[in-house]
Amino acid sequence: MRIKVSASVLCADLSDLASEVNELEEAGVDMLHFDVMDGHFVPNLGLGPVIVEHLRKLTSLPFEAHLMIEDPARYAERFVEAGSQIVAAHVEAVPDFRRLAEQIRELGASPAIALNPDTPVERIEPFLDEVSQVLVMTVQPGFPGQPLVKHTITKIRKVGDALLQRNLQLDIATDGNVSFENAPVMVSAGADVLVCGTSSLFSRKVSFSEGVRLLREGVSGVPEAPSS
Ligand code: DX5
Ligand code: ZN
Repeated sequence: MRIKVSASVLCADLSDLASEVNELEEAGVDMLHFDVMDGHFVPNLGLGPVIVEHLRKLTSLPFEAHLMIEDPARYAERFVEAGSQIVAAHVEAVPDFRRLAEQIRELGASPAIALNPDTPVERIEPFLDEVSQVLVMTVQPGFPGQPLVKHTITKIRKVGDALLQRNLQLDIATDGNVSFENAPVMVSAGADVLVCGTSSLFSRKVSFSEGVRLLREGVSGVPEAPSS
């Protein structure tokens, strides 16, 4: 199946970002993923809109801003203006996601709803018809290099079931410990966008093009999830 490989910019060599982005594009990644963190929603600080703005000049790849922040409604516009096509925010930070999804759409971007490993899928179900992507955190958010939270694989499947019940065709993205071994498991559970960081693309054990090839090859035999 054709999955989308999304490169987590936070895991790139930030001292050599321009050439890394060019190499990632040549390697065939489908999009760039920007982890935005405010030190409150998660105990870490991440990328700001200025990075999005600068990288926007280098590539036409779609950008996703993953807002792991307490007040995404306040900053969404900055990330869209800087050049993000998708803005993902956490349901844990925005109980009434409908208004935020509308705001992101009015800005001309696509809203995505993210949920942490311990948040039940039921929490996002009321908003599935308002978004274009579900971002399933497969690690505790905030830091690269963490281990997969195993029960999130079942959550990917549950999201797929919820979409099927509603006859919705949304991307299901997974973010966290997307390794060459975990990727096929995630895809067979229903993921079609893989946010790749230090566990695969940025492992520095293989080149970006080899990494993309391994990811695509690894999931090539996975049957398509039943579409609605
Ligand atoms: C979680 C991280 C993600 C991802 C990084 O918030 O910042 O970007 O987990 O990839 P890994 O897990 O492979 O280092
Ligand atoms: Zn992310």
